[in-house]
Amino acid sequence: MKAIRVAQYGQPEGLLFQETPSPVPGPGEVLIEVAGSGVNPIDWKVLSGAMKAFIPLQLPYTPGVEVAGRVAAIGEGVTSFSVGDEVFGFIGIAGGYATEVVASADRLARKPNRLSSLQASGVPAAALTAWQALHEHARLSAGQRILIHGAAGGVGSMAVQMARNAGANVIATASAGNHPYLRSLGASQVIDYNQSSFESVVDAVDVVLDLVGGDTQTRSWSVLKPGGVLVSPVSQPDARQAEALGASGKHFATRSDGAQLQQIAEQFDSGELMIEIEVLPLSQAEGALRKSWARHTRGKLVLDARH
Ligand SMILES: NC(=O)c1ccc[n+]([C@@H]2O[C@H](COP(=O)([O-])OP(=O)(O)OC[C@H]3O[C@@H](n4cnc5c(N)ncnc54)[C@H](OP(=O)(O)O)[C@@H]3O)[C@@H](O)[C@H]2O)c1
Repeated sequence: MKAIRVAQYGQPEGLLFQETPSPVPGPGEVLIEVAGSGVNPIDWKVLSGAMKAFIPLQLPYTPGVEVAGRVAAIGEGVTSFSVGDEVFGFIGIAGGYATEVVASADRLARKPNRLSSLQASGVPAAALTAWQALHEHARLSAGQRILIHGAAGGVGSMAVQMARNAGANVIATASAGNHPYLRSLGASQVIDYNQSSFESVVDAVDVVLDLVGGDTQTRSWSVLKPGGVLVSPVSQPDARQAEALGASGKHFATRSDGAQLQQIAEQFDSGELMIEIEVLPLSQAEGALRKSWARHTRGKLVLDARH
Protein backbone atom coordinates (compact mmCIF):
# COMPACT_ATOMS: atom_id res chain seq x y z
CA MET A 1 0.00 0.00 0.00
CA LYS A 2 1.01 3.66 -0.28
CA ALA A 3 0.65 6.31 2.39
CA ILE A 4 1.50 9.90 3.17
CA ARG A 5 3.98 9.91 6.06
CA VAL A 6 4.94 12.64 8.49
CA ALA A 7 8.47 12.12 9.79
CA GLN A 8 8.61 15.32 11.83
CA TYR A 9 6.16 17.96 13.00
CA GLY A 10 6.10 21.20 11.02
CA GLN A 11 4.91 22.35 7.60
CA PRO A 12 3.27 20.24 4.84
CA GLU A 13 6.49 20.55 2.77
CA GLY A 14 8.09 17.70 4.72
CA LEU A 15 5.49 15.08 3.78
CA LEU A 16 6.60 11.79 2.22
CA PHE A 17 4.54 9.58 -0.12
CA GLN A 18 5.80 6.07 0.54
CA GLU A 19 5.22 2.36 0.13
CA THR A 20 4.34 0.90 3.57
CA PRO A 21 3.23 -2.57 4.75
CA SER A 22 -0.53 -3.26 4.58
CA PRO A 23 -2.17 -3.26 8.03
CA VAL A 24 -4.00 -6.35 9.32
CA PRO A 25 -7.42 -5.91 10.99
CA GLY A 26 -7.55 -6.99 14.63
CA PRO A 27 -10.68 -8.05 16.56
CA GLY A 28 -13.58 -5.68 15.85
CA GLU A 29 -11.73 -4.03 12.95
CA VAL A 30 -11.96 -4.00 9.17
CA LEU A 31 -9.39 -3.35 6.48
CA ILE A 32 -10.59 -0.68 4.03
CA GLU A 33 -9.30 -0.29 0.50
CA VAL A 34 -9.46 3.51 0.47
CA ALA A 35 -11.10 5.39 -2.41
CA GLY A 36 -10.88 8.84 -0.88
CA SER A 37 -9.75 10.62 2.28
CA GLY A 38 -11.20 13.87 3.59
CA VAL A 39 -8.88 16.74 4.50
CA ASN A 40 -9.66 18.56 7.76
CA PRO A 41 -8.12 21.41 9.80
CA ILE A 42 -7.23 18.87 12.51
CA ASP A 43 -4.78 17.32 10.02
CA TRP A 44 -2.61 20.45 9.81
CA LYS A 45 -3.15 21.30 13.47
CA VAL A 46 -1.67 17.90 14.39
CA LEU A 47 1.04 18.21 11.72
CA SER A 48 2.13 21.60 13.11
CA GLY A 49 3.02 19.95 16.43
CA ALA A 50 0.63 22.27 18.31
CA MET A 51 -1.37 19.31 19.62
CA LYS A 52 1.39 16.85 20.46
CA ALA A 53 0.91 17.30 24.21
CA PHE A 54 -2.74 16.12 24.01
CA ILE A 55 -2.48 13.84 20.99
CA PRO A 56 0.82 11.98 21.21
CA LEU A 57 1.56 10.16 17.95
CA GLN A 58 4.50 7.96 17.20
CA LEU A 59 6.51 9.37 14.27
CA PRO A 60 6.38 8.69 11.41
CA TYR A 61 2.60 8.74 11.21
CA THR A 62 -0.01 8.97 8.44
CA PRO A 63 -2.45 11.92 8.71
CA GLY A 64 -6.16 11.67 7.95
CA VAL A 65 -9.23 11.17 10.14
CA GLU A 66 -11.87 10.04 7.61
CA VAL A 67 -12.13 7.80 4.58
CA ALA A 68 -14.55 6.08 2.22
CA GLY A 69 -13.78 2.85 0.46
CA ARG A 70 -14.42 -0.87 0.17
CA VAL A 71 -14.08 -3.46 2.93
CA ALA A 72 -11.17 -5.70 1.89
CA ALA A 73 -10.92 -7.93 5.01
CA ILE A 74 -12.66 -8.25 8.36
CA GLY A 75 -11.22 -8.99 11.80
CA GLU A 76 -12.48 -11.45 14.38
CA GLY A 77 -15.98 -10.77 15.70
CA VAL A 78 -17.06 -8.29 13.00
CA THR A 79 -20.61 -9.11 11.93
CA SER A 80 -21.85 -5.69 10.76
CA PHE A 81 -19.82 -5.58 7.53
CA SER A 82 -18.65 -8.07 4.89
CA VAL A 83 -15.86 -8.02 2.36
CA GLY A 84 -16.93 -5.87 -0.59
CA ASP A 85 -19.19 -3.48 1.37
CA GLU A 86 -18.81 0.21 0.51
CA VAL A 87 -18.26 2.08 3.78
CA PHE A 88 -17.23 5.45 5.14
CA GLY A 89 -16.27 6.73 8.55
CA PHE A 90 -14.45 9.01 10.98
CA ILE A 91 -11.71 6.47 11.72
CA GLY A 92 -9.70 8.23 14.45
CA ILE A 93 -6.96 10.81 14.61
CA ALA A 94 -4.66 9.40 11.92
CA GLY A 95 -4.19 6.88 9.11
CA GLY A 96 -6.59 8.08 6.41
CA TYR A 97 -4.16 9.51 3.82
CA ALA A 98 -3.38 6.06 2.47
CA THR A 99 -4.56 3.48 -0.03
CA GLU A 100 -5.46 1.06 2.80
CA VAL A 101 -6.38 1.60 6.43
CA VAL A 102 -7.67 -0.43 9.36
CA ALA A 103 -10.62 1.01 11.31
CA SER A 104 -12.86 -0.09 14.12
CA ALA A 105 -16.13 -1.41 12.63
CA ASP A 106 -18.23 0.60 15.09
CA ARG A 107 -16.88 3.86 13.60
CA LEU A 108 -18.15 2.96 10.11
CA ALA A 109 -21.42 3.18 8.22
CA ARG A 110 -22.55 2.13 4.77
CA LYS A 111 -21.76 4.71 2.12
CA PRO A 112 -24.84 6.64 0.91
CA ASN A 113 -25.85 5.30 -2.54
CA ARG A 114 -26.36 8.80 -3.88
CA LEU A 115 -22.76 9.83 -3.17
CA SER A 116 -19.60 8.81 -4.98
CA SER A 117 -16.88 7.38 -2.74
CA LEU A 118 -14.95 10.64 -3.10
CA GLN A 119 -17.95 12.69 -2.01
CA ALA A 120 -18.60 10.29 0.88
CA SER A 121 -15.01 10.57 2.08
CA GLY A 122 -15.56 14.25 2.92
CA VAL A 123 -18.68 13.67 4.98
CA PRO A 124 -17.95 11.90 8.30
CA ALA A 125 -15.96 14.39 10.42
CA ALA A 126 -17.82 17.50 9.24
CA ALA A 127 -21.29 15.96 9.38
CA LEU A 128 -20.83 14.33 12.81
CA THR A 129 -19.42 17.61 14.17
CA ALA A 130 -22.32 19.65 12.79
CA TRP A 131 -24.93 17.14 13.99
CA GLN A 132 -23.50 16.89 17.49
CA ALA A 133 -23.11 20.69 17.77
CA LEU A 134 -26.70 21.39 16.73
CA HIS A 135 -28.60 18.50 18.23
CA GLU A 136 -26.57 17.30 21.22
CA HIS A 137 -24.97 20.53 22.49
CA ALA A 138 -27.20 23.41 21.28
CA ARG A 139 -30.45 21.41 21.26
CA LEU A 140 -31.61 23.48 18.29
CA SER A 141 -35.36 23.49 17.67
CA ALA A 142 -37.73 24.63 14.94
CA GLY A 143 -38.30 28.38 14.78
CA GLN A 144 -35.04 29.27 16.54
CA ARG A 145 -32.51 31.69 15.03
CA ILE A 146 -28.96 30.39 14.62
CA LEU A 147 -25.85 32.34 13.59
CA ILE A 148 -23.19 30.11 11.97
CA HIS A 149 -19.65 31.52 11.66
CA GLY A 150 -17.42 29.87 9.05
CA ALA A 151 -20.57 28.60 7.34
CA ALA A 152 -19.00 27.86 3.93
CA GLY A 153 -16.40 25.39 5.24
CA GLY A 154 -16.70 21.67 5.85
CA VAL A 155 -18.58 21.75 9.15
CA GLY A 156 -20.46 24.95 8.30
CA SER A 157 -21.83 23.59 5.00
CA MET A 158 -23.30 20.62 6.87
CA ALA A 159 -24.55 22.75 9.77
CA VAL A 160 -26.41 25.20 7.50
CA GLN A 161 -28.30 22.33 5.86
CA MET A 162 -28.99 20.48 9.12
CA ALA A 163 -30.21 23.66 10.85
CA ARG A 164 -32.47 24.42 7.88
CA ASN A 165 -33.77 20.84 8.01
CA ALA A 166 -34.53 21.30 11.72
CA GLY A 167 -36.74 24.28 10.86
CA ALA A 168 -34.36 26.94 12.20
CA ASN A 169 -33.78 30.37 10.68
CA VAL A 170 -30.13 30.31 9.52
CA ILE A 171 -27.87 33.38 9.46
CA ALA A 172 -24.42 32.65 8.04
CA THR A 173 -21.09 34.51 7.86
CA ALA A 174 -18.74 34.10 4.89
CA SER A 175 -16.92 36.16 2.29
CA ALA A 176 -19.13 37.51 -0.51
CA GLY A 177 -18.14 34.87 -3.09
CA ASN A 178 -19.71 32.16 -0.91
CA HIS A 179 -23.07 33.85 -0.41
CA PRO A 180 -24.93 32.24 -3.36
CA TYR A 181 -23.59 28.85 -2.19
CA LEU A 182 -24.84 29.42 1.37
CA ARG A 183 -28.25 30.56 0.18
CA SER A 184 -28.50 27.40 -1.93
CA LEU A 185 -27.81 25.35 1.24
CA GLY A 186 -30.61 27.08 3.15
CA ALA A 187 -29.23 30.23 4.80
CA SER A 188 -31.88 32.94 4.92
CA GLN A 189 -29.40 35.74 5.68
CA VAL A 190 -25.71 35.93 4.79
CA ILE A 191 -23.19 38.40 6.21
CA ASP A 192 -19.89 39.29 4.53
CA TYR A 193 -17.50 39.41 7.48
CA ASN A 194 -15.05 41.45 5.36
CA GLN A 195 -17.59 44.23 4.82
CA SER A 196 -19.60 44.50 8.03
CA SER A 197 -19.30 43.36 11.61
CA PHE A 198 -21.98 40.78 12.25
CA GLU A 199 -22.96 42.58 15.50
CA SER A 200 -24.19 45.53 13.46
CA VAL A 201 -26.60 43.40 11.41
CA VAL A 202 -27.86 40.68 13.70
CA ASP A 203 -28.97 40.33 17.31
CA ALA A 204 -31.00 38.14 19.66
CA VAL A 205 -30.09 34.77 18.24
CA ASP A 206 -30.86 31.58 20.15
CA VAL A 207 -27.69 29.77 19.07
CA VAL A 208 -24.25 30.75 17.79
CA LEU A 209 -22.24 27.98 16.14
CA ASP A 210 -18.65 29.25 16.13
CA LEU A 211 -16.40 27.53 13.57
CA VAL A 212 -13.83 30.34 13.52
CA GLY A 213 -12.80 31.03 17.14
CA GLY A 214 -10.72 33.93 18.49
CA ASP A 215 -12.20 37.39 18.21
CA THR A 216 -15.21 36.09 16.25
CA GLN A 217 -16.17 33.93 19.22
CA THR A 218 -15.58 36.72 21.77
CA ARG A 219 -17.74 39.19 19.84
CA SER A 220 -20.53 36.65 19.51
CA TRP A 221 -21.77 37.05 23.09
CA SER A 222 -23.29 40.41 22.15
CA VAL A 223 -25.70 38.87 19.63
CA LEU A 224 -26.87 36.00 21.82
CA LYS A 225 -30.22 36.08 23.63
CA PRO A 226 -30.18 35.58 27.40
CA GLY A 227 -30.57 31.84 27.82
CA GLY A 228 -28.95 31.22 24.42
CA VAL A 229 -26.14 28.80 23.60
CA LEU A 230 -22.73 29.50 22.07
CA VAL A 231 -21.27 26.21 20.88
CA SER A 232 -17.78 25.86 19.44
CA PRO A 233 -15.69 22.87 18.44
CA VAL A 234 -12.77 25.33 18.01
CA SER A 235 -12.16 26.55 21.58
CA GLN A 236 -13.73 26.76 25.03
CA PRO A 237 -16.10 29.76 25.33
CA ASP A 238 -15.49 32.08 28.30
CA ALA A 239 -17.53 30.81 31.28
CA ARG A 240 -17.71 34.28 32.92
CA GLN A 241 -19.20 35.84 29.78
CA ALA A 242 -21.75 33.04 29.60
CA GLU A 243 -22.72 33.48 33.23
CA ALA A 244 -23.02 37.25 32.93
CA LEU A 245 -25.49 36.77 30.08
CA GLY A 246 -27.38 33.86 31.60
CA ALA A 247 -26.30 31.90 28.52
CA SER A 248 -24.23 28.78 28.08
CA GLY A 249 -20.94 28.28 26.29
CA LYS A 250 -20.02 24.79 25.12
CA HIS A 251 -16.86 23.33 23.63
CA PHE A 252 -16.73 19.73 22.48
CA ALA A 253 -14.63 17.20 20.63
CA THR A 254 -16.45 15.28 17.94
CA ARG A 255 -17.35 11.70 18.81
CA SER A 256 -16.87 9.05 16.16
CA ASP A 257 -20.17 7.17 15.99
CA GLY A 258 -21.00 4.69 13.23
CA ALA A 259 -24.70 4.49 14.18
CA GLN A 260 -25.12 8.27 14.04
CA LEU A 261 -23.21 8.37 10.75
CA GLN A 262 -25.63 5.76 9.35
CA GLN A 263 -28.56 8.10 10.13
CA ILE A 264 -26.68 10.93 8.41
CA ALA A 265 -26.08 8.64 5.40
CA GLU A 266 -29.85 8.22 5.08
CA GLN A 267 -30.24 12.00 4.92
CA PHE A 268 -27.86 12.07 1.93
CA ASP A 269 -29.85 9.29 0.26
CA SER A 270 -33.15 11.11 0.81
CA GLY A 271 -31.69 14.32 -0.66
CA GLU A 272 -31.92 16.26 2.63
CA LEU A 273 -28.14 16.81 2.59
CA MET A 274 -25.56 17.41 -0.13
CA ILE A 275 -21.80 17.94 -0.22
CA GLU A 276 -19.56 20.01 -2.48
CA ILE A 277 -16.02 18.67 -2.84
CA GLU A 278 -12.76 19.67 -4.48
CA VAL A 279 -10.61 16.65 -5.37
CA LEU A 280 -6.81 16.47 -5.31
CA PRO A 281 -4.66 13.37 -5.83
CA LEU A 282 -3.39 11.64 -2.68
CA SER A 283 0.12 12.23 -4.00
CA GLN A 284 -0.57 15.98 -3.65
CA ALA A 285 -1.55 15.88 0.02
CA GLU A 286 1.01 18.60 0.66
CA GLY A 287 -0.88 21.06 -1.55
CA ALA A 288 -4.21 20.00 -0.04
CA LEU A 289 -2.97 20.64 3.48
CA ARG A 290 -1.58 24.04 2.51
CA LYS A 291 -4.92 24.90 0.97
CA SER A 292 -6.86 23.83 4.05
CA TRP A 293 -4.43 25.75 6.28
CA ALA A 294 -5.25 28.95 4.32
CA ARG A 295 -8.77 28.69 5.85
CA HIS A 296 -10.88 29.32 2.75
CA THR A 297 -12.04 25.84 1.77
CA ARG A 298 -15.58 25.78 0.43
CA GLY A 299 -17.29 22.49 1.30
CA LYS A 300 -14.61 19.82 1.57
CA LEU A 301 -11.22 19.02 0.11
CA VAL A 302 -10.74 15.30 -0.52
CA LEU A 303 -7.79 13.20 -1.65
CA ASP A 304 -8.26 10.65 -4.43
CA ALA A 305 -6.39 7.50 -3.35
CA ARG A 306 -6.06 6.24 -6.95
CA HIS A 307 -3.56 8.95 -7.87
N1 LIG B 1 -13.16 19.86 18.30
C1 LIG B 1 -13.45 19.05 17.28
O1 LIG B 1 -13.64 17.85 17.47
C2 LIG B 1 -13.58 19.63 15.90
C3 LIG B 1 -14.19 18.90 14.88
C4 LIG B 1 -14.33 19.48 13.61
C5 LIG B 1 -13.86 20.76 13.38
N2 LIG B 1 -13.24 21.44 14.39
C6 LIG B 1 -12.72 22.80 14.15
O2 LIG B 1 -13.78 23.61 13.61
C7 LIG B 1 -13.23 24.57 12.73
C8 LIG B 1 -13.99 24.53 11.40
O3 LIG B 1 -13.70 23.30 10.75
P1 LIG B 1 -14.00 23.15 9.19
O4 LIG B 1 -13.61 21.80 8.80
O5 LIG B 1 -15.38 23.61 8.89
O6 LIG B 1 -12.94 24.23 8.60
P2 LIG B 1 -12.75 24.73 7.12
O7 LIG B 1 -13.51 23.89 6.16
O8 LIG B 1 -11.29 24.87 6.89
O9 LIG B 1 -13.40 26.19 7.14
C9 LIG B 1 -13.10 27.05 6.10
C10 LIG B 1 -14.14 28.15 6.04
O10 LIG B 1 -13.93 29.12 7.06
C11 LIG B 1 -14.44 30.36 6.55
N3 LIG B 1 -13.84 31.48 7.28
C12 LIG B 1 -12.53 31.76 7.45
N4 LIG B 1 -12.40 32.86 8.23
C13 LIG B 1 -13.67 33.28 8.53
C14 LIG B 1 -14.20 34.36 9.30
N5 LIG B 1 -13.41 35.23 9.92
N6 LIG B 1 -15.55 34.47 9.41
C15 LIG B 1 -16.36 33.60 8.78
N7 LIG B 1 -15.92 32.55 8.04
C16 LIG B 1 -14.59 32.41 7.93
C17 LIG B 1 -14.06 30.36 5.09
O11 LIG B 1 -15.01 31.12 4.39
P3 LIG B 1 -14.54 32.27 3.36
O12 LIG B 1 -13.64 31.56 2.35
O13 LIG B 1 -15.79 32.79 2.81
O14 LIG B 1 -13.73 33.23 4.18
C18 LIG B 1 -14.10 28.88 4.70
O15 LIG B 1 -15.25 28.53 3.96
C19 LIG B 1 -11.73 24.25 12.61
O16 LIG B 1 -11.00 25.08 13.51
C20 LIG B 1 -11.65 22.81 13.08
O17 LIG B 1 -10.38 22.45 13.59
C21 LIG B 1 -13.09 20.90 15.63
